[in-house]
Amino acid sequence: MRWYRTASILIAAPLLAGCGTQLQSSLDPDGAQAGSIGHLWWMYFWVMTGIYVVVVIFALVAVLRRKSSESHVTPERPEVAPPQQQTRRTNGLVGGLVGLTAIILFVLLIGDFLAGRTIDADLDPHPIVVQVIGHQWWWEFIYQDQQPSRIVSTANELHLPVNRPIRIELDSRDVIHSFWIPNLNGKKDLIPGHPTTTWLQPTSEGTYWAQCAEYCGAQHAHMRFTVTVESQDKFDAWLEAGRQPAQQPKTESEKRGKQVFLTRQCSMCHAIDGTPAGGRVGPGLTHFASRPTIGAGTLPNTRGDLGGWIIDPQHVKPGVRMPQNTLSSDELQDLLDYLESLQ
Ligand code: CUA
Repeated sequence: MRWYRTASILIAAPLLAGCGTQLQSSLDPDGAQAGSIGHLWWMYFWVMTGIYVVVVIFALVAVLRRKSSESHVTPERPEVAPPQQQTRRTNGLVGGLVGLTAIILFVLLIGDFLAGRTIDADLDPHPIVVQVIGHQWWWEFIYQDQQPSRIVSTANELHLPVNRPIRIELDSRDVIHSFWIPNLNGKKDLIPGHPTTTWLQPTSEGTYWAQCAEYCGAQHAHMRFTVTVESQDKFDAWLEAGRQPAQQPKTESEKRGKQVFLTRQCSMCHAIDGTPAGGRVGPGLTHFASRPTIGAGTLPNTRGDLGGWIIDPQHVKPGVRMPQNTLSSDELQDLLDYLESLQ
């Protein structure tokens, strides 16, 4: 449906200017599963449109015929009841249309079943496995590996290689969330204590927005993440970089910033590999500087936004677990230097 893509991009272009991401739409599929959902949607759309047009035509014909027959009714020629033959014809027509409705519903049911089978199909016995854990209100992504030392953990940004099947294992630490990358697949709930599975197989490179699709509290709308679909080489390089411990601070201000991080309340909730900071309440920050957003897609990851976020996250995202931080201006600048060095 390329015409839809063109039309929707034209409409949305002013809103998306500068985002550098694809249009967030399940009708603009760039994945095997979303493609099958898209086909199902268009099948429903055209069948329903056809039925609507036929119903409107029948209604118009009935109204117009009634009007023209009324104009012929006079005191000398009163309206006559339809003959029995006409009643039989009407009954036959209604019976036929009821049968046709049943057939159409059956066809839609088969389409639904086939799309469901494509979405749930086990695509590969040895896929890339990403564990997704929902938190109020952020996403934890853990790239599994046979060797524990090669497991990569990140937050609020998913990287995927193009044209490879990826198994997504979903779980939640608090309430029910829903994992939704509209361009790649339908929604799948994350239910605490009841792991679920879904599959992704992106077919084009690009950056996509994704988000929680199940109301999960005050900041449900600020529970988003980005998905970067890239070549296998780029993906491998990104994953390898994720396996490295955090960069050591180089400048004096970065060293002071690290001390601020470790001695203030930051390290009680956030982990940085290779340092004593091991908090698990908030996102791990080992490679924080390479991430595109802060607060699960709430702000761009710029120095100014990060400073504002650290001092008063409640102002940006009321209800978020992260408390306000009282830091002097020098401490904040040092902390920013350190966090921005964590590539
Ligand atoms: Cu998580 Cu809505």
